Amino acid sequence: MEESLSAPDWQKEIYLNGFAGKKLSAKASFEKLERKAKKEMSKEAFAYIAGGAGTEATMQANRNAFDRWQIVPRMLRDVSVRDTSIELFGQKLPAPLLFAPVGVLEMVHPKADLAVAHAAARLGLPYIFSNQASKPMEACANVMGESPRWFQLYWSKSNDLVLSFLKRAEACGCNALVVTLDTTLLGWRTRDLDVAYLPFLEGKGIAQYTSDPVFQKLIDEPDDSQPIKRNVTLQSLFGLISMVNNYPGNGFFSKLKSGRPLKAVRKFVSIYSNPATTWSDLSFLRQNTKLPIILKGIMHSDDARKALDAGVNGIIVSNHGGRQTDGSIATLDALPKIAEVVQNRIPVLLDSGIRGGADVIKALALGAKAVCVGRPYVYGLTIGGEQGVYEVMRNMMADFELTMALAGCKNIAEIKQEMLIRT
Ligand code: GLV
Repeated sequence: MEESLSAPDWQKEIYLNGFAGKKLSAKASFEKLERKAKKEMSKEAFAYIAGGAGTEATMQANRNAFDRWQIVPRMLRDVSVRDTSIELFGQKLPAPLLFAPVGVLEMVHPKADLAVAHAAARLGLPYIFSNQASKPMEACANVMGESPRWFQLYWSKSNDLVLSFLKRAEACGCNALVVTLDTTLLGWRTRDLDVAYLPFLEGKGIAQYTSDPVFQKLIDEPDDSQPIKRNVTLQSLFGLISMVNNYPGNGFFSKLKSGRPLKAVRKFVSIYSNPATTWSDLSFLRQNTKLPIILKGIMHSDDARKALDAGVNGIIVSNHGGRQTDGSIATLDALPKIAEVVQNRIPVLLDSGIRGGADVIKALALGAKAVCVGRPYVYGLTIGGEQGVYEVMRNMMADFELTMALAGCKNIAEIKQEMLIRT
């Protein structure tokens, strides 16, 4: 049976449960949610999820940009029947919300991507499978029925691997390909540097690779990459144990003896992303998939123009949650010019800093068709597994529906720039 997704129903459920002494595991306020999740995470996991690049000025800029715009509510407009649904790439979604791809979720919950996939399917919102997932895309697709799912691609140095990822994404029913453009190199992540921890070195977040037949062949090729230097300490032994355990298959000692867990990590490190990629390379993707191609990481209107020229099907205005370029402009500040160039020819989505319903309204009013949410659902996952993810996104949907209605709009088409002022 389809769950009712109406905001007042959810609100009522929360209060009635409260009357019976039961509260949601996820906190409704982002700050409290983050604080609660932090207590349940290792310091390494929190650094990785919560952190941004450099001084974290980009993360701050993202939030400041939302604060600079304010909604001017309108009254007496009959908002008794509300419709928050949109259509995106031929699919009807109950709200203009997607689950952004977030890697290495095993750091916060053993069910990781599977729990998110399940929660996303319950809500009917698309889940963008991470290239750096902890569970293979097929396993996630398996628990989602017909519910929408997209695949996020990091452009590897191996085009054979890219091709294999594409084919797998198509085969497991992904509806779109999201190419992340802003991570050709890993950003200068100060919190991760301070704890000196990169999860991939423990074989975490590389499940799309280790489950891939082409990657398995690449492991067997002679390796001319620089060996990863590791000092042998008790800590590095734990890291090695974790690496072997994270590698698929049973039998710790046979996996250890095969040498494959270590080779997989080395291969991943040497090929995960390709800083030499240019606009002309996009034709390779176009020729090799029929899926809509969406470019994630567009921040400049000239790049939006190039994206249109390249014939892609969508854009995500994103600065990777402030994790890549420090001191960058906010996505909400980049959006209006990009929307002006695109003129609704292809959908423009936005992410980075969405924390509540009002943020969604501001993004839509300034030209976004939908938004992607990242850290909030990861905190929900940390606290309450699948149910925590569900609660966080259900809260976001309810907050959006109620704020939309209270601002005087009964559907998405009524959300317009005129309802905002810039302070
Ligand atoms: C990408 O995988 C990230 O860590 O942001």
